[in-house]
Amino acid sequence: MVNTPIVKDGFLIRNRIIIRNCTAEDVTILKQLCCQTFFDSWGSDFSVEDMNSYMNENFTEQKIKEEIEGDLESYHLAFCDAVPVGYIKLRRNYKTPMPTNLKVVELQRVYVLDKYKGKGIGSDLIKYVLNIVTEEKFEVIWLGVWEKNSNAINLYKKFGFEVCGGYSFKLGNDSSFDLVMKKNLSKQ
Ligand SMILES: CC(C)(COP(=O)(O)OP(=O)(O)OC[C@H]1O[C@@H](n2cnc3c(N)ncnc32)[C@H](O)[C@@H]1OP(=O)(O)O)[C@@H](O)C(=O)NCCC(=O)NCCS
Repeated sequence: MVNTPIVKDGFLIRNRIIIRNCTAEDVTILKQLCCQTFFDSWGSDFSVEDMNSYMNENFTEQKIKEEIEGDLESYHLAFCDAVPVGYIKLRRNYKTPMPTNLKVVELQRVYVLDKYKGKGIGSDLIKYVLNIVTEEKFEVIWLGVWEKNSNAINLYKKFGFEVCGGYSFKLGNDSSFDLVMKKNLSKQ
């Protein structure tokens, strides 16, 4: 059994896992995965109305297609035995909560289907994009994460992200707090 992932020619390969960059042909898969993982993850924390309103705004095929076809955003899909099981999204040159002159990229989302969590796929997705953003010569990668999401916070810390701030955000009528975490890529 091979456990060390191989990152080569736009693919990450480990045992039964493959990760690759998305194209506009992936929009239908991505839309389904975005909705299902978002609902599985937060459905019990927020009202159905708030969840639907967020998903209808952010997870349309049109929006995902525009993001993929633009220069700034990218999606990357993880497959286990050819089944799409998780994705990660990057946002380049987008406004950051901490003003900086450095070249920054945001790890905007990383999601894995419930059934596949805890199998290293989230880690594979992060490793995969760290490789990409380092090649693209970004200096800092940052993200916002709900302060109560300890699973994700611990995962990011494992990859060298450190808490450097925070901001409040609203989903529907609820107000929550996101921590900002960043990793200096030149330290890798
Ligand atoms: C955060 C997330 C992407 C991690 O994906 P994953 O494939 O479970 O990640 P990994 O398996 O690589 O590692 C997750 C860590 O949680 C632990 N874990 C074990 N079982 C788990 C489970 N059922 N669910 C979640 N995490 C689990 C793992 O042991 C691992 O910790 P360790 O490396 O110290 O052992 C995934 O839990 C997820 O989709 N969460 C909901 C969405 C989310 O919070 N996204 C991040 C903010 S946008």
